[in-house]
Amino acid sequence: MKSALIQSFRHHFEAEPLVVFAPGRINLIGEHTDYQEGFVFPAAISQGIWVAIAKNNLEVSRAYSLDFDQEFSFELGSMSPKKGHWATYLMGVCTLLQQAGYPLENFDLVLGGDIPTGAGVSSSAALSVAIGMGISEVFSFQIPKKNLALYAQKAEHLYAGVNCGIMDPYASAFGVQNHALLLDCRSVTHQEIPVHLGEYSLLLVNSKVSHSLANSAYNQRRDACEESVVILQKSFPEIRTLRDLAESDLPKIKHLLPEVLFPKAKHVISECARVQQAAEALQSGNLLQMGKLLQASHESLRDDFEVSCSELDFLELQAKSTAGVLGARMMGGGFGGCLLTLLKTNEISNFKTTLQERYQNAFQLTPDFIEVSLGEGARKV
Ligand code: GLA
Repeated sequence: MKSALIQSFRHHFEAEPLVVFAPGRINLIGEHTDYQEGFVFPAAISQGIWVAIAKNNLEVSRAYSLDFDQEFSFELGSMSPKKGHWATYLMGVCTLLQQAGYPLENFDLVLGGDIPTGAGVSSSAALSVAIGMGISEVFSFQIPKKNLALYAQKAEHLYAGVNCGIMDPYASAFGVQNHALLLDCRSVTHQEIPVHLGEYSLLLVNSKVSHSLANSAYNQRRDACEESVVILQKSFPEIRTLRDLAESDLPKIKHLLPEVLFPKAKHVISECARVQQAAEALQSGNLLQMGKLLQASHESLRDDFEVSCSELDFLELQAKSTAGVLGARMMGGGFGGCLLTLLKTNEISNFKTTLQERYQNAFQLTPDFIEVSLGEGARKV
């Protein structure tokens, strides 16, 4: 990919660029907890976005997308990032960096990637982190990784309309090979936990659906959590978010919350506990327990948080009845995307055949399978 980008850059802009890479991410467990300052357990993967960039000493900045085979020019002084265009994140990140006081000059840029979009592996977070890092490198801004992640999160809020948490860009920025990040979204700091799976592997099953309600439903779930906090603070003034409650508090808060809100709060509170248990299970090599936690997470996301969909539920049901599978769950924001599966490596081929056939019969869709290896975070390559 790097050489394809450099060649394309020479062809379009007749100059020598520097190249950066930012990966997508998986999340082992800890879904819809990040925006409640809770715990998540993501890891960077080896697929992601590459950006080739060089200053151009012109009056405009120019970008070329390998995927769309399109060129786009814009002026740094008058950018109008609008939802839906591939250059939106580019102009969005530039706008945020300028607002933060970084003296951007015009540049040329080529971008490309090997990460599926809409699969829930955070292609847009990888894109924003890669752009931020490319600009930081080419102008020697030395922007700290944590800030790159924060700008990427803000770009998602402002230019995609999704009020997401910090997990995705943070994992893209800080990933470590063969490790997952036990990330505390309150302090925004992490602990690196080695992931040794022995004769087991992680496999993503891409459902190939991404339901259109996903963004609005995501924001509604976030609002529901915030609403619960406001109600609960009347009885528990010391809490700031749902993260401040433990599973043992659930009986105490049940009667305080409206019937529609309680299950959502219960999911966040129990999911935070599962993240801690999963980190312990991985550290002690207890993969059976890890599998059970994945299962419990799926059930909670399906029944309490209500962010799954029939395609993911079908895949999860089939996965857990297939030989060699320790656990599986929907991953990411929900309403489509991938199922994360922990399974025996030597059963992968049988698993793929079985799931493909059953999913095809049920939904007339062919799932994609992505074998996961945990890679390094964003870097110059
Ligand atoms: C999306 C968001 C994240 C996180 C997950 C759900 O991926 O971008 O911030 O909230 O959904 O865990």
